[in-house]
Amino acid sequence: MQYGYFDDQRREYVITQPDTPLPWINYLGCQEYFGLISNTAGGYSFYRDARLRRLTRYRYNHLPLDQGGRYLYLRDDESGRYWSPSGAPTNCDLERYSCRHGMGYTVIGSVYQGISAHTRYFVPLDETLEIWQLTVINQRARPAWLSIFSCVEFCLWDAQDDATNFQRNFSIGEVEIADGVIYHKTEYRERRDHFGWFACSEPVEGFDTQREAFFGPGRGWERPLVVEGGESANSVAHGWAPVGSHHVRLRLEPGETRQVQFVLGYHENARDQKFDPPGSQILNKKTVRPIIARYRDAAAVDAAFCRLRTYWDGLLSVCQVETPSVHANRMVNIWNAYQCMMTFNLSRSASFYESGVGRGLGFRDSNQDLLGFVHMAPERARQRILDLAATQYPGGGAYHQYQPLTKKGNNEIGGNFNDDPHWLILGVAAYLKETADWSILDEPAPFDNEPGSEQPLYEHLHRSFRYTLERLGPHGLPLIGRADWNDCLNLNCFSETPGQSFQTTTNKDGKVAESVFIAGLFVLAARELAAIACRRGAAADAQRCLDAAARMTETVKAHGWDGAWFVRAYDDFGRKIGSKECAEGQIFIEPQGFCVMAGIGLDDGRARQALDSVRRHLATPHGIVLQQPAYSRYYPHLGEISSYPPGYKENAGIFCHNNPWIMIAEAMTGNGDGTFDYYLRINPSAREPISDVHCNEPYVYAQMIAGRDAPAHGEAKNSWLTGTAAWNYYAATQWILGIRPEYDGLRIAPVIPEAWAGFRAVRKFRGVTYNIEVHRQGPGNRVSLRVDSQPLAGDIVAPPADGRAWVAVEVAIG
Ligand code: BGC
Ligand code: NOJ
Repeated sequence: MQYGYFDDQRREYVITQPDTPLPWINYLGCQEYFGLISNTAGGYSFYRDARLRRLTRYRYNHLPLDQGGRYLYLRDDESGRYWSPSGAPTNCDLERYSCRHGMGYTVIGSVYQGISAHTRYFVPLDETLEIWQLTVINQRARPAWLSIFSCVEFCLWDAQDDATNFQRNFSIGEVEIADGVIYHKTEYRERRDHFGWFACSEPVEGFDTQREAFFGPGRGWERPLVVEGGESANSVAHGWAPVGSHHVRLRLEPGETRQVQFVLGYHENARDQKFDPPGSQILNKKTVRPIIARYRDAAAVDAAFCRLRTYWDGLLSVCQVETPSVHANRMVNIWNAYQCMMTFNLSRSASFYESGVGRGLGFRDSNQDLLGFVHMAPERARQRILDLAATQYPGGGAYHQYQPLTKKGNNEIGGNFNDDPHWLILGVAAYLKETADWSILDEPAPFDNEPGSEQPLYEHLHRSFRYTLERLGPHGLPLIGRADWNDCLNLNCFSETPGQSFQTTTNKDGKVAESVFIAGLFVLAARELAAIACRRGAAADAQRCLDAAARMTETVKAHGWDGAWFVRAYDDFGRKIGSKECAEGQIFIEPQGFCVMAGIGLDDGRARQALDSVRRHLATPHGIVLQQPAYSRYYPHLGEISSYPPGYKENAGIFCHNNPWIMIAEAMTGNGDGTFDYYLRINPSAREPISDVHCNEPYVYAQMIAGRDAPAHGEAKNSWLTGTAAWNYYAATQWILGIRPEYDGLRIAPVIPEAWAGFRAVRKFRGVTYNIEVHRQGPGNRVSLRVDSQPLAGDIVAPPADGRAWVAVEVAIG
């Protein structure tokens, strides 16, 4: 069953009923001001940091889940009937409801009793505000007298405090109202230099800023007293809960269309210009008035919207493909790329599954996210890399997370996740291959943000590499520390206390438990670093890396191979995890993917064997589960992984993040059909027809799909902000379509299904547009290339020496 459809032409997903199984959301904003918006206009907004600068309030675990949002109420002033054109919160029987989620904007609307009303929500580029552009059409045969009421509930800035510290919060709320603009200035009197504002393009009939006055005692979003009565109370909030509501009256002739803009913004004043007149406690509005004036004008709003569309068209134009698969096309061309950018912008901070108060930016997460967006925003990738490097410790380890506002490492969670340092090497390698900007390696970056400790980025990479060599366990495999990629494999934790954090508790000295996954990651990273060193002319460095990679490969073959697949780890007792010797958790996905990606076993058949084992033991129609058999009980020596009921999350859920590792590994072994089969199993668009099973949005990846041990096998959770976005994009574009940036140029080495006659792609790379046409000539993956009609040896197309900006590449495959 579906709840909508893709409109690929407009790059939109159109939801045709408000009651989707879960809120199906989109993001507004792509620079500093962000909002989440559900298909019924629920959600919230913030400036840069979802915890510390929350502009509007969101109640966690509310019913319905997405309630609290950007609501407009329409009221028929003749009959007194009122409704929300976005479905929620009044839930009237709407006709022709639709929600169009697009690139950085959402349009929600409906028809009710002959009145059509649609609101376009978006954040203009280079502004810290959001626009709600409402279009109302009177489709009746007689004039309509309407009232519009807007409403937002302000958050008192720190979302954590806002949700907990009521003894203070109920006394600090402050607002001002001037020229129909509502200013939210809680705490502005003391240490905050920022305020919120909410304006309307029309003259207002009235306003409200005190929540209880607007809603009325005992009422909620669905039945506000003011809307019911058709008149604002003109309330001025003192303490309690400040809201912003305008009342606008419209008279519409039959067939008449009107537009009304509501604009919600965030603004900062210089500390010495906070008040006007100086010395008073009155908010200085002079600095924000020109901005407000600009967006009261419909033409300016339309122009800002066009600019936003052009911006997204530009980003997406870097890689566009035309394959025989509609699911591959729309994910690669539109939604997967878009999700990669959103994940870059927000990391894991704010979604309907990440509260925005819990965590900073993950070190490994952010490095992996790079794989998905570096081609669209290389300058931002550069900055991200340097920020990440600055949160490394002098010993090469890294803070597991850092705070986006301060860019400092998060002390609460600390480091000692022994995989973390290597992701930096992979991130930097991806950046260099895309951009050839070798200068980044000489860029000084401090350790632990300590001034004076700066070293070139190149040195940071070597410390990452050495980190593991200094932490080898009894078998010569890397010690796991707190956890590796699998945050829930906590082999040194041994927690028996409810509520204790699996991530930060370590009750063991960590000298025994080893990770085969890190071994694979290490080999891959060491090879990448060797390639970087080699091109930098540091032959000795390169050799050191290659030697270490070769030694680790032998160690994996000796102690990390279980006969038909790679072992997952050794626990604190030195016993195998992910082995046929185990009662549960006999085979894990991660080492099969990463060891093969690192090239281990490609030469001796083990890679193929491991992948066949994955297919036999882990593959389900809904994707590949993380391990089997699921852990049926809690094991203190394994940690959080066994805390989940079987089939969920890391305990045998389908972790969509690491399915692409298997896809890439399959592609490396030349299995085009097998690779694409896995790709489609978790492709959100391909799963659209089973939206009632999948439940999450059909246009973006979710972190997890319930595994075969779960009663809800096939049900997705934790959509949007996940490493899944980058890895699937990377697998699809670089390994299936095989358009792969390398140091010397663009490699074209597709591993596509046998039945495909070919595909076309346009890829912009280092300032050159590559027009690629692939034609199948027979089975297999061998390619021969012609570049601008000239045959080319090999499969790497170097940037044209004569400075041309356009290259035609014909590829015969088979
Ligand atoms: C989740 C992981 C997450 C970790 C750290 C665990 O509960 O299952 O996916 O990485 O917490 O936030
Ligand atoms: C989510 C985390 O953000 C990521 O870093 C981790 O690798 C996965 N969970 C698996 O545990």
